[in-house]
Amino acid sequence: MAAINPVTDLSKDGDIAVITLNSPPVNALSAPVRDGLADGFKQAIADPSVKAIVLVCEGKTFIAGADISEFGKAPKGASLFDVQNTMEDSPKPIVAAIHGTALGGGLEVALCAHYRVAVPSARCGLPEVNIGLLPGAGGTQRLPRIAGVEKALEMVTSGQHVPAKQCLEMGLVDEIVPEGQLKQGAVAFAKKVLAEKRPLKKVRENNAKVEAARGKPEIFANFRKENGRKFRGFLAPEYNIRCIEAAVNQSFEDGLKTERKLFMELVTGTQSAAQRYVFFAERQAWKIPDVPDDTAQIPIAKVGVIGAGTIGGGISMNFANAGIPVTMVETKQDALDRGLTVIRKNYENTAKRGRLTMDDVEKRMGLLKGSLNLEDLKDCDLVIEAVFENMDVKKDVFTKLDSIVKQGAILATNTSALNIDEIASVTKRPDAVIGLHFFSPANVMRLLEVVRADKTSKPVIATSMATAKKIGKVAALVGVCPGFVGNRMLFQRQREAQKLVMEGAMPWDIDRALYNFGFPMGPFAMSDLAGLDIGWNKERSKGETIRDVLCEMDRRGQKTSAGYYDYDENRNAKPSAVTEKIIEDFRKKSGVNSRQISDEEIVERCIYPMINEGAKILEEGKAIRASDIDIVWINGYGWPVYRGGPMFTGDTVGLDKVLAKMKEWHAQMGDTFKPSALLEKMVAEGKRFQDLK
Ligand code: 3HC
Repeated sequence: MAAINPVTDLSKDGDIAVITLNSPPVNALSAPVRDGLADGFKQAIADPSVKAIVLVCEGKTFIAGADISEFGKAPKGASLFDVQNTMEDSPKPIVAAIHGTALGGGLEVALCAHYRVAVPSARCGLPEVNIGLLPGAGGTQRLPRIAGVEKALEMVTSGQHVPAKQCLEMGLVDEIVPEGQLKQGAVAFAKKVLAEKRPLKKVRENNAKVEAARGKPEIFANFRKENGRKFRGFLAPEYNIRCIEAAVNQSFEDGLKTERKLFMELVTGTQSAAQRYVFFAERQAWKIPDVPDDTAQIPIAKVGVIGAGTIGGGISMNFANAGIPVTMVETKQDALDRGLTVIRKNYENTAKRGRLTMDDVEKRMGLLKGSLNLEDLKDCDLVIEAVFENMDVKKDVFTKLDSIVKQGAILATNTSALNIDEIASVTKRPDAVIGLHFFSPANVMRLLEVVRADKTSKPVIATSMATAKKIGKVAALVGVCPGFVGNRMLFQRQREAQKLVMEGAMPWDIDRALYNFGFPMGPFAMSDLAGLDIGWNKERSKGETIRDVLCEMDRRGQKTSAGYYDYDENRNAKPSAVTEKIIEDFRKKSGVNSRQISDEEIVERCIYPMINEGAKILEEGKAIRASDIDIVWINGYGWPVYRGGPMFTGDTVGLDKVLAKMKEWHAQMGDTFKPSALLEKMVAEGKRFQDLK
C-alpha cells in the first residue's frame, strides 16, 4: 500500500485500485480526508494499469459524513464537490464498499460512485436534519433519483439509518457481500463490472423516478400535513422537503443550486448551530474529568427495583429491554400484580404497533421477577429504590438495604430532589450510594440525571454512567442540591409562571408563549395533564392558592375534565371562565392591578431566571459544564433542541441582556432575581457559557 496522505492509502489488487480511508473515529470528511480522496481518485484514474477503483474504509464505519466540527470555520483543502465530480466523471468504474454507516456526506460520496456494495450489517442514511441541516453535497438530488420521492422525503426528514437489505431493495446498494469480506467482495464485484462491461452508472442521469412525481404537488402537500406536528418549530425538515421538490421540478444542475442555497441558509443560522452544539454536548456529557475511561467498573448482571408503581415499573422495563434481569419488590401482592400487568400491557401495545414481536414480549417479561421481600435483593449488583418521596421512608429503605445487599453492589435512589448525602449517611457504605433520577415515563424519557453524592466512589460513578448508556439513556452527571439540575431550574420557571398569573397573564397566555417558544406544552397544560392534586392534601387545603381552590372544586386536571382549562370529551383544552374568575378574585384580594403582559415578557420572565439559576449551578460546581445543563433540559423537559437548551439560549440572546433583565427585576422584586456572580463575571469578561472550559 502506498500512502497518499496520513489518512489515505492507494493499493492495487490486480487491475483494481483500492483507495482505503483510515481517519478514526468515523472517517468524517475532514480536509485531509477530502484531499486524500481527491488525490487517490486522480492517481488511480491516471494510472493506465488500473481498470476499476474500489473505495473502502478502515475502522468501525464507512464515511459517517462531513466533519461537523469544520462547519463555520474557513474552508481548507479539496472541496467535496471536486471529489464527487472526479468520481462521477471517472472513465473507470468506481465501487463504494460500505460497512458500519454511510451517512450524510459519506452517502453522498457513495452516490457518486457508479456502484455500491455493502455488508449485511451496514446502514445508509442522510441524517443532516438532526443537526439542523440538509444534505448539502447533492444528496437531496441524487437520493430521490434512486429511492423515489416518497422514500427520499421520509429519509431526509427523519434522518433514519436504513439497513443494507432495504438499501438493496430500493437500489441504493447494488450487492450485499458477506460480513467480514467487504474488501474482497468489492474487488470481486468491480471485476464482475469489468467482465460484464457494465455501464458507468451515474445517479444524476437517472430521471425516471423524479419525473414520475412531476405535476403531483399533492405528494408534498400531504407529506407536510401528515408531519406538521412533528416538524413544528424546526426549519430543516421544511428545507429538506423544498430540496426534494426541486429535484422533481428542476434540472439536476438547478436542483443542486437550490440545495446549495438552502444549505447555506441553514448552516449559517442559529437552529443548526444549536443542533450541532447539542450533537457534541450529548457526547461530551459522558466524559467525567476526574473519572477516567479506564476506571474499574462493577459488572451489572442483576438489578433490583423497589417499587412497582409507574416509575418503578418504567425503570424496570429499561433493564429488561437491555436483557438484564430485574427483581421488583413491592410491599403488597396486589400492587406488585398491578405493576407487572401494566408492564405487560405496555409491551403488548408496542407489539401491536409492530415494534416488538410477542416473543420479545415474553422474553422481557421473563426477565422481570416480582417479590414482597427485600431479602430477595441480596445478590443484586444494582438496587434502585423508587419509593415514596419522603426522607424518613428513604432512610428506612437504605438502612435495610445496607444490611441485606451484598458488598460491592450499587445502592441507588431515584429521588428527584432529596439530599442524597443524608440518605447515604444511614448506610455503612456511603461510597456505594448514588442518585439515578429517571424521568417519567421512565421507559420512554431519554434523560437520566446521575447524582453524585459527597462520598460516591469513582467506580460507582463510572458504572452508573456506563449502565445508563447500556439502557439507552442520555446521562448527565450532577451534584447534590435541592432539585438537582432539572427540577431546581424548573422551580424558577414555575414560580414566575404563577407570579405572572397574579400580575395579569392568564394560564393560557403563559402556555401559549412557552409553546410558541418551542416547548411541547406550557406549565399549566402540563399541570392539568399530570394532575393538579399531585402533592395536594384535601384535609390541609385552605384555599390559599389558585391550585387549592381548583382542587377543592374537584377541578384536578384532565382526569376530571377540568383543571386550569376546561376539557371536552376528546380532551381538547379550552380556556376556562371558572379559572379566570378564581384568578381575578385572587388578584382582587391581594390588591394587584393587573396589567397587559406581552408574550415576549412572559418568555423572558420564565426563562431568564432559569439561565441565572443554571449559572449558579455551575458556580457551585453542581454541573460539570453548561452543556450538561442543556442536555438535562432538552432530554428531560422538552426544551426545543433547535434552541440548544437554556444555557445555549442565554448565549444566543446575549448574556448581557439576560443580566440586565435580572438586575432590573432584582431591583423591582427582590432577591429571587439576584444575578449569579458567574453571570456577572462572564458578562464583564465578554464570555459565553460555551467559552467556559
Ligand atoms: N463529524 C465530526 N465528528 C464526528 C462525526 C462527524 N460527522 N460523527 C461522529 N463524530 C465524533 C463524535 O463526536 C465522537 O467524538 P468523541 O469520541 O470525541 O466524543 C466520535 O466521533 C464517535 O462518535 P459516537 O460517539 O457518536 O459513535 P457511535 O459509534 O455511537 O456512532 C455514528 C457513530 C452513527 C457515525 C454517529 O457518530 C453519528 O451519527 N454521527 C453523525 C453522522 C452525521 O450527522 N452525518 C452527517 C454530517 S453533516 C454532512 O454530512 C453534511 C453534508 O451533507 C455536506
